[in-house]
Amino acid sequence: MRVIRVGILASGRGRNLQAIIDEVEAGTVPAEIVVVISDNHKAPALERARLHGLATVFLDPKSVTDAAHPRQAYDRKLLQALNRYQAELVILAGYMRIVSSVLLDAYALRMMNIHPSLLPSFPGLRAQQQALDHGVRISGCTVHFVTEGVDEGPIILQRAVPVHEGDTVETLSERILNEECQLLPQAIRLFAEGRLHVTGGTVHIRTGKLA
Ligand code: GRF
Repeated sequence: MRVIRVGILASGRGRNLQAIIDEVEAGTVPAEIVVVISDNHKAPALERARLHGLATVFLDPKSVTDAAHPRQAYDRKLLQALNRYQAELVILAGYMRIVSSVLLDAYALRMMNIHPSLLPSFPGLRAQQQALDHGVRISGCTVHFVTEGVDEGPIILQRAVPVHEGDTVETLSERILNEECQLLPQAIRLFAEGRLHVTGGTVHIRTGKLA
């Protein structure tokens, strides 16, 4: 089977990144992580990547000089790095910047994000707190293709988790994260196997044996 070249963008802790690394190393996801890029030089995600011998790039948002279009200018640099490593699929694994048209155009339906809620509920920041504030009984996580609207792209996979009486942001986040760490590698596997097809904003998953 063909191995897909994956570039990962991460800003923080890197638990999702670690889950992808572990599955790739175990041979359960037909992918090669060609580069891990961060906007935060202190991101533990970068350290995790280095520990596994992966190429890392820190791109400093402050190094962008185009004051009129800082997001696009930053993303042009990102795109150069992704091109240098010939990434075919881009994963936002806890990446805290909003991506601009520069990346969206280059990686249309080839860029995925993981979000800690059952979208379209609770997009944006502090999704777990939003879920608690609304008193929902079920929350979860979503992997979706990235489009212009924040957390709005076609949904690829979702997993639900119960919200328990007395949950805090920490306990709920941890329960959701455990599912995230299985869901994101699974989505990459489906993509690599050519099983994802998008029509009219809906993702269809082809099951069964591929020719
Ligand atoms: C995860 O909850 C993810 O859903 C959200 O940011 C968090 C990243 O965690 N987008 P980590 O960096 O993967 O540990």
